[in-house]
Amino acid sequence: MSEGEKMIHEGRKIFLRRCSSCHGIHAEGKPGVPSLKGAPDRFTDDAIQSFIQNGRGEGKQRMPPVRNISGQEIIRVILYLKTLKG
Ligand code: HEC
Repeated sequence: MSEGEKMIHEGRKIFLRRCSSCHGIHAEGKPGVPSLKGAPDRFTDDAIQSFIQNGRGEGKQRMPPVRNISGQEIIRVILYLKTLKG
């Protein structure tokens, strides 16, 4: 496995641990939670990082900040999201 492939593989594991309970195991979303397929085409990496660290949205639909996630982990999750087709 190349370094890049390793990072994507790790990103998938982080996604499953930290994101999939809301966004679905295939990032398909569910009522009230958007699909993340194609999200990296709609948002910059910095924007996605900010959603993860600071949360996003309002009220019932709000995404809370994801606690105790490192910058290295966030980079890997975003790399994984980029492999998903929109
Ligand atoms: C507790 C549930 C929950 C968790 C855990 C969660 N999210 Fe979210 N996420 C949401 C909700 C709800 C929204 C919609 C917020 C809004 O209305 O703008 C959202 C929105 C987003 C968006 C913007 C999508 C769009 O099209 O507007 C991105 C990107 C995102 N989340 C990425 C992640 C990533 C990556 C993780 C894991 C590191 C994660 N989320 C963990 C609930 C969650």
